[in-house]
Amino acid sequence: MGELSGKVAIVTGAAAGIGLGIATRLCQEGANVVIADMNDLDGQKVAADLGPGAVFYQIDVSDQAQLAALCDFAKSEFGRLDIMVNNAGIGGQRHAHLLDDNFADFNRVVGINLFGVMVGTREAARVMKENGGGSIINISSAGGVVAAAGNWTYHATKSAVVFFSKCAALDVGSFNVRVNCIAPCNIETAILARSMAGHIPEGPERDEYMVTLRKYIQTRQPLKMQGYVDDIAEAILFLGSDRSRYITGMLMPVDGGQLAGNVRPENSPMGRNPGINAAA
Ligand SMILES: NC(=O)c1ccc[n+]([C@@H]2O[C@H](COP(=O)([O-])OP(=O)(O)OC[C@H]3O[C@@H](n4cnc5c(N)ncnc54)[C@H](O)[C@@H]3O)[C@@H](O)[C@H]2O)c1
Repeated sequence: MGELSGKVAIVTGAAAGIGLGIATRLCQEGANVVIADMNDLDGQKVAADLGPGAVFYQIDVSDQAQLAALCDFAKSEFGRLDIMVNNAGIGGQRHAHLLDDNFADFNRVVGINLFGVMVGTREAARVMKENGGGSIINISSAGGVVAAAGNWTYHATKSAVVFFSKCAALDVGSFNVRVNCIAPCNIETAILARSMAGHIPEGPERDEYMVTLRKYIQTRQPLKMQGYVDDIAEAILFLGSDRSRYITGMLMPVDGGQLAGNVRPENSPMGRNPGINAAA
């Protein structure tokens, strides 16, 4: 029997990437999982691969009515809702300089990354209240905590997700509903290549660029390793289960330590200071 036997979860954006990793792990732990995604083809396949505990539900998370129907679906299909992972997100069009951005995709990025998370939190809390509580986990980004250039609207939405989640936690705690955030960074999925290497045609050149880029990102992490979807799934298992029953309103970075601060570069002049003890 898995740790989440008898529990019911919804994971948005579960047809690929981080959402797929999360849904897989929740299923392995015995939960019934609704695979909620826009991508019908991949979503159906994921649900079939995961077995009878998983069911696909096609949705665009930027649509309020669809999100309400999704949460009602989980209840009617499995009788309750315990874990909601608002994970679906897009990077939007990248513009290296702010002056070049005409914000053509502003409404789409905000609609999915922020509005979808806000409505998903409200609708999940509504259903969770009926079964005595639950855990909502909203996927932000390290880029929602520290500033970065390029994906201007993306960063703004991811930052807002953190603040909104804290506000929501204050309110729905009285229903025993917890709301926490995860801030991933450098997890190996397709989103970074689409955002950073969209100008390079798919193939060896793009792959090579992504290897270089991911190596560069690791130089900014205290832990010199690549992050994978399983690393996020582990955090979800903690925040989604009763292991974290006393935790709400929290942001958990899963980022190789990047949000801890600036890593000193190998060639930094500060590295040459032997320190007071060595001089004594
Ligand atoms: N991969 C990383 O390193 C990283 C870092 C920081 C934050 N994140 C965040 O993690 C989340 C998942 O990212 P990922 O890397 O797995 O991306 P991904 O592109 O690999 O997968 C995203 C999934 O969301 C689905 N989706 C997109 N728009 C949707 C919509 N309107 N309605 C329903 N489903 C929709 C897609 O079909 C896809 O299955 C995103 O919110 C992203 O911003 C990822």
